[in-house]
Amino acid sequence: MPLADTHVHLLAGLDDGPASMSEAVAMCRFLVAEGAGLATALAHQNPDYPENTPERLRAAAVALAAELQRKKVKLAVRPTGEVMLGPDTLADWHAGRLLTVGDTGAYLLVEMPHRDFVDVLPLAAAVAPTRLVIAHAERYTPLLFDPPRAAAWVAAGCLLQVTASALADPWDDDMAGGLREWADAGMIHLIGSDGHGIDRRRPLLAEGYRALRGLAGRAAARRAGEEWGAAVLRGSALPVPMPAVRRSWFARVLGA
Ligand SMILES: [Fe+2]
Repeated sequence: MPLADTHVHLLAGLDDGPASMSEAVAMCRFLVAEGAGLATALAHQNPDYPENTPERLRAAAVALAAELQRKKVKLAVRPTGEVMLGPDTLADWHAGRLLTVGDTGAYLLVEMPHRDFVDVLPLAAAVAPTRLVIAHAERYTPLLFDPPRAAAWVAAGCLLQVTASALADPWDDDMAGGLREWADAGMIHLIGSDGHGIDRRRPLLAEGYRALRGLAGRAAARRAGEEWGAAVLRGSALPVPMPAVRRSWFARVLGA
C-alpha cells in the first residue's frame, strides 16, 4: 500500500500553506515521490483564518483534485480542517463549522492553542463517536513525557499523529526518548508530513516512515503509515490496541 499523509497543507492561499495552485501541485508531486498515494487537502480552522468554513475547504479540495487529475498526479486528496482547540470548539462542532478528516464525520484533527496545553478528554467524550486525532502530538511535552496521560487519551478514543520529520530527526534527545516510549507502547498511530510548501516545510514522509520502522518494527510502521492512515482518511473504523505502557498508568489516572 502507498503511504497516507494524514497532515499536509495543500489548499492554495487558504492558510500558511502553499501560496498558489502550482505550489500545491508541486507538493503533491513531491509526496508521490515520497511514496504517498493519499493525503489530506488540509487548511487551518482557527481564529487567524475565520473565512475557512467547511464549504470553502471542500471547494478548494475539489479544485485541487481536478488539477491533479489534469496534471496526471496520482495522489488522492481529501478535504480536512486542522482545528485549533479553544473555548468555542464544542459550539463550533455542534454548529457544523468544523471539517472532519476527509469530510467523513469519523475523525476530527485538533491541535493545541498557541503556547497552551488543554485536556482533550471532555471534548473527546462530547464529540464521540467521532474520534479526535491529535495533530503533531510530539510537540506537546505534557503529553510526550507522560505516557500514562497519552495512554488515557488513547483509551478515550484519541489517535496520536506524529510528524514524519520528528521521527527522522527529533528536535533533541528528550523528544527521541519520548517517541521511543510511544513506539514501544504502540501509541504512534498515524504519521503526517505537516508540509506547508515546496521551498520551505516540504512534505517529507519517507524518511520518517523508515525511522518508524526502526523504532516500532516493520508491521507497526506499515499499520501507521499505510493502513491506519488510509482508514482515517476514508472514515473507516479503526480498532487500535490499548497502549502497553510499562508503569501502571491506570493507577496514575486514578491518582493512586
Ligand atoms: Fe498543520
